[in-house]
Parts: sequence; structure tokens; C-alpha cells
Amino acid sequence: KKPDPAIFFILGGSGDLTYRKLIPALYNLFLDDWMPEQFHIVGIGRTAYSNEKYKAHLLEGIHKFSRRRNHKTDHWNEFSEHIEYLQMDVEDNQAYQSITKIVNNKEKTFGTHPNVIFYLAVAPQLVPDIAKHLGQLNICADRKCCRIVVEKPFGHDLQSAHELNQLLQSMFDESQIYRIDHYLGKETVQNILAFRFANALFEPIWNCNYIDHIQITAAESVGLEGRNSYYEKAGALRDMVQNHILQLLCMIAMEAPVSFDANEIRNKKVDVLNAIRKIRKEEVQDYAVRGQYGPGWMKGQKVVGYRQEKGVDPESPVETFAAVKFYVDNWRWQGVPFYVRTGKYLHEKTTIIVLQFRPAPHYAFPPEAAETWRPNRLTISIQPNMDIRIRFQAKRPGQKMTLSPVDMIFNYEEAYEDHSPEAYETLLLDIMEGDATLFMRADQVEAAWRVITPILEAWQNRPPVDFPNYAPGTWGPEDAEALIARDGHNWITLPPLHQEHEG
Ligand code: BG6
Repeated sequence: KKPDPAIFFILGGSGDLTYRKLIPALYNLFLDDWMPEQFHIVGIGRTAYSNEKYKAHLLEGIHKFSRRRNHKTDHWNEFSEHIEYLQMDVEDNQAYQSITKIVNNKEKTFGTHPNVIFYLAVAPQLVPDIAKHLGQLNICADRKCCRIVVEKPFGHDLQSAHELNQLLQSMFDESQIYRIDHYLGKETVQNILAFRFANALFEPIWNCNYIDHIQITAAESVGLEGRNSYYEKAGALRDMVQNHILQLLCMIAMEAPVSFDANEIRNKKVDVLNAIRKIRKEEVQDYAVRGQYGPGWMKGQKVVGYRQEKGVDPESPVETFAAVKFYVDNWRWQGVPFYVRTGKYLHEKTTIIVLQFRPAPHYAFPPEAAETWRPNRLTISIQPNMDIRIRFQAKRPGQKMTLSPVDMIFNYEEAYEDHSPEAYETLLLDIMEGDATLFMRADQVEAAWRVITPILEAWQNRPPVDFPNYAPGTWGPEDAEALIARDGHNWITLPPLHQEHEG
């Protein structure tokens, strides 16, 4: 069933997110026949665009960034008839009346009350004011059909996130607020729930009795991509760990939900966040490592150091890399370290989750068989590879009992012909359908801030003395290796499945 009629107002309609992600996602939903029978999209921005210019600009974004960028855009004209541009200063109170007018007009043409979705794709500092203006509109006061979508970063710290939650909740019901974390829309991330809870095989060993440690790597080979001033206020911990990485950790560590109800799933995740051991201020250096890239080379291209980037303080203490060791203090995970790391300009783009199992309890094989013996490992590749691998021991063919580790692999592209929708497609459809399962609830966001607050504070109080401390194209600072090596482990990265495609 298609979603009910909807009007999308995209505040920040002339910005990068709209151009790269939102419009390509809405267009793909249209092509896949998921858009409502009646819908309208209004891009709101300060840039002066005619409707025609605006649409041409959006089409360019599709050619560059859509997963179907190499396909013909035959249906673009049909789709773009539903788009209009509204030049508006979001700080001007009066201007919001244009929104009301559009809604009233569309209601007449649709012959029904549509859902009205306000997507705030704007700089975080604008969010509170815009939300206030929207909350005061009659169309929002009267009806439950308004939904407000807030992008990350959700607040700058626990205090500001709490204030923002209070503000939003004073005007909208929690069920009308959609806090986006686009990682939750990724197919491979949603599949973690299917893998864990739709199979009987893995759950019995998914605990501290069998698992030695867990690693989550979200490495990026890109730099700031033009978001310099935002990043200079954020840093890797706020940009990636507070949200995406902690959400992945929750999916791996949560208890089995009783149902697929949005609140049930989110309750289980909040339980995990609340169980994460608070790192004491004086211990932060034993649990968390920060890094910043210097100048160097990335895939044959010269790269300036972070401190030389435009708009960045030449003595900036902002981290472009973070690695943290977490513990989840509950019955299931007692004593199992969760090592996480993320950074810009790292060796390659890869997001993987590794569950390293304990050694087999007894080793009955001849000593020479032991040489290549390795404990079991389960690896969930989120991107760009989309696969799950289970490493186990096999007997090598031959007269001797020689063991070697082999992988059993489930690969998305080989298993399914269908193309995976992009995260934003899934999330935008969920918003239209009113399904909040993959969105962050207020308490979830605050619990995640609480987890990283001691690290943020310790880092702020003790400026880094060794920045820059890693070169582009590496796996980050040496201290990150030391963090995990101290416990007798090393970071795991996977060789790509199809090495022949690698340049
Ligand atoms: C965003 C961060 O939330 O996620 C960016 O702000 C980061 O800095 C991006 O590059 C990574 O997303 P993905 O989907 O490319 O892994």
C-alpha cells in the first residue's frame, strides 16, 4: 500500500543534503512506485532560483549522486511536476505564512488533508528557531499530521540535546518527531536484526561466554567534503561515534525484542546505552584515543593537513579520528570489550563489525596442525562490501591433519538480484508511513550523549599535544593500535571479496 498523500517541505532545499541525498531518494521512491498518489515537494532556501532553474539543479544532483545515476531519467519531468521552490528567509517570521498558503492550496487540489512533513536539512544552529516557527503555525497546532524531521547532529552535547528535545516536545508529540540517523536506514544495518533474531543458530553463542571481543570500524577515505566549519565544531566523536557507531553497537548488543514495535526496539537499544560503563575522567586516556590528519597523499592526490583546511584554526584541537574501548555492563556482555574506531582520510572506506569468538575450549589436534589455527570470527560488512562472513577451521586436503581458516560468505549482491534501496529512501518512506522504528527517540539521543560526555570533557580540558598524529591513507594514529594491542588484539580489516577488481 502506498503512503497517504503528503507534502514535503525541505528547509535547506538549496543545500547539499537535498541535492545529494533527499531528492535522489525521493525520485527513486517515485520510480519504484512508493510515492503517494498525491504528493508535493517544496524546496525552501535563501538562494534565488526560478522553479525551472531549481529543477535543473536537482536533476544535476541525480546525475551525480543517485544510485541510478547511469540510468535514463525518463520519468524526471513527470516527477518534477510535483516540485516547487520557495525562496524564503527561515529567520523571517512572516515568511512562514507562505507555507500555510501552500498547504491550504494543496489540500484543495488533493481534496483531503495530507501529511505535512518538515525536513530540516539546515545548519544545526538554525534548528531551534525554525522548529519554534513551525510549531506556531496553525496547520501544526491543529493537526497531528505534521511531522518534523531533524538531521544530526542532534545538539552539541548532552545539555543542548536535552534543551532541543524539550523545545521540540513542547510543540510536537514525540510520535511526530523523526530524528534521523541515516546508518539505521542502511540495508546491512537493518539486516543485523534479521540475522540475530530471525535465526536460532547465532543467538545462543551471542554473549560473553563465547565472544572474546567486538570491533566496529567505520573508516572513511574522504576528508571534510566542504563541511569544514561544521566539522571544526564537531570532530569525529560527535560526528560519528555519538550517533552512527553507538547505534551499530546497540544493534549488536541489544536483547531480543518482543515485537517489531518502534518503541519496543528503541527500549532495547536504550537499555544498551544505559548499560555502557561510564568512563571515569581520569581513565579517559586508557579508553579513548584521538587523532588528527596531517598533510600527505591520498590515492595519488596531495592532501593538506586538517589544520591547513579552509576555515580551520591552524592550531585546531579537533579530532578527525577517534577510537574508544567500551564495556557493556550487563549479564550478556560482562567483560567483553567493544573497540570502535572511525576517522577521515583513512586507508579505505569500510564499515565492518567483527565478533571475535573465544578459542575452542580444548585443542585435540596434533601440534603441527596448530600453526594456522585461528578462533572463529563473524564479520558483518556494512559497506562498501555488503556481506557476512563466518570464519571457521577446515581440514586442508591431503594426508595430514592440517587445519586452515576458511570463510563461509553470504554476499548481498550474489544472493539477491534486487538493488538495495539507499538509506534515505528507506527512511523517507518510513516518515511518510509514520513508522519511527529506525529513528532516534529523545531518551536514546540523550543516553548516547551521556556515554561520550566524559571523553568530550576530558579532551576539551586537555588539549592534544601531538596533533597532527597520522598521515592520510593510514589507519590512524599509532595510539589506536596500542589501545587494542594492550589487550592482546589487533584491528581487523577484511580483504575485499573480489580482489581482481581492485586497482
Ligand atoms: C555523516 C557524517 O553523518 O556520515 C559525515 O556527518 C560522514 O562526516 C558520513 O562522512 C558517513 O556516511 P556514510 O553513509 O558515507 O558512511
